[in-house]
Formats: sequence, structure tokens, C-alpha cells
Amino acid sequence: MSTGSEVCDVRPHPRPGQIREMFASIVPRYDAVNSLMTLGLDRRWRRLTVEMAQPQGAVALDIATGTGELGCELVRQGARMTVGADFCVEMLRAAKAKAERTGVGDHLTLIGADAMRLPFADSSFDCVVNGFMLRNVERLCDTLAELWRVLRKGGRLVSLDLTPPRGPLRGFFGLYIGRFVPLLGMLVARNYGAYRYLFDSLSIHPDADQIAGMMRKAGFAEVGYKLVGFGTVAIHRAVK
Ligand SMILES: C[S@@+](CC[C@H](N)C(=O)[O-])C[C@H]1O[C@@H](n2cnc3c(N)ncnc32)[C@H](O)[C@@H]1O
Repeated sequence: MSTGSEVCDVRPHPRPGQIREMFASIVPRYDAVNSLMTLGLDRRWRRLTVEMAQPQGAVALDIATGTGELGCELVRQGARMTVGADFCVEMLRAAKAKAERTGVGDHLTLIGADAMRLPFADSSFDCVVNGFMLRNVERLCDTLAELWRVLRKGGRLVSLDLTPPRGPLRGFFGLYIGRFVPLLGMLVARNYGAYRYLFDSLSIHPDADQIAGMMRKAGFAEVGYKLVGFGTVAIHRAVK
């Protein structure tokens, strides 16, 4: 198994400012495209991600909350206090509207923050979750170290993201993510580039074993992962 050290450097990504602008441009149709391209399975994966963080009675963080799906789910699954953070203001506005619409607005605090430099004291959270964030941060190892810092001892990190597909369906999923998803993005969100970026970011993303190695390197213990979505999605869990 890889130690993950070889993938800790800055990856050839768009700069954080470009990433923020790209996400701002797809906010209105973001949930709809997610639902269509995953055939609705993303909701199940998010529920499972939050379950794996054991949020009952916890002080919880959803970092890179986007439209707030995981943040709202943390509240629904019994977190005592939940913070949703993202560096894209337009996403945070959508998250706020959703939280109010779904009746969890009083329990979800939304703030602007960069995952690589969080404005929280050491050991602030019992659990931290993130959905589809790992591929987007410029410095993955620094981000994992930052998540380790803000978790208390015994706190749980659970990360949900696409993972480079393996096995016999690899070619099919390559075509699906590389060709079909950008077309869907163009038709539904009028943005081919943002959804082509999904394929590009996945093609330079470490595999699930490498991510596990990076979590260990950041100081986490009990690192493991579950593959869902026919092996196209990994949910990593680790403990501080
Ligand atoms: C693909 S969306 C995922 C949103 C949500 N977590 C979900 O499960 O649907 C990625 C989100 O990560 C945010 N993001 C990317 N890099 C970030 C960073 N360095 N700090 C904070 N948020 C970041 C983007 O603004 C965007 O909202």
C-alpha cells in the first residue's frame, strides 16, 4: 500500500480562485445535476457518510458544505451543533436557503472558510465530514492535517468522494464521467467545462489506498474505506 507521500504536492489544478468561481457558476442546478448523474444514489451515500461519523450529540463540521446536503443531514441525524463551511459565498447562500426550507436552519451555522486554513481552535469538533471536496483542494495533505487539528482526540473524519474506477467497468465509467456527465452538465446547468473538470480532477486524483495513506500520514488512526456506486465512490473513515 502506498504511503501517499508522492501525491502530497500541489497538483496541477486550477487555482483556488478559479475553483470558487466555477462552483459559483453552477449553484442553481448543482443539486439537480448531482441527482441525475448519480441516478439519485448521492442521497444514500451522503446518509451513509453522516452515519459513519456518528454525529448523535456531537459538535460537527461539514467542510466544503456546498449546498449544505451533509450539513442538513448531520442535523437530522442528531448532531448537537453543526457548522457548514465553504469558501464559495454563492454555495453558502444556497445552503442557507435549503436549511431554512427543510426546517434545520436554526441548527446549522454557515460560515465562509478555506479548508486549508480553518478559523477554528484545535480540537473543536467531535466529527468532520466532507462530500466531493478532496479532489478540489489544492494541497490535500495540508487539508487533511488541518482537519486533524480541528478534531478532538477520538473524533471521526469521514470523506466521501469519487475515486478512480477499477476493474472491468473502468472503461465504461471513464466514458460515463468523461463524455456523458459533461453533456448532462451542458444541458442542465449550461456549463460543459465545470462538468468536464469533474473528469479532469478525477484523472489526477489519488486512488482510495493512497488517500488512506495520506490520512495516516496526517496523523489519523483506524483508517479504512468503503467503495460504493460500483466502485466509483469511496467513503473514507479515520479517527484522531
Ligand atoms: C463538488 S462541491 C461539494 C459540495 C457538497 N459537499 C456536496 O456534498 O455536494 C465542492 C465544494 O467544495 C468547495 N471547496 C473547494 N475547495 C475548497 C476549499 N479549499 N475550502 C472550502 N471549500 C472548498 C467548493 O466551493 C464547493 O462548494
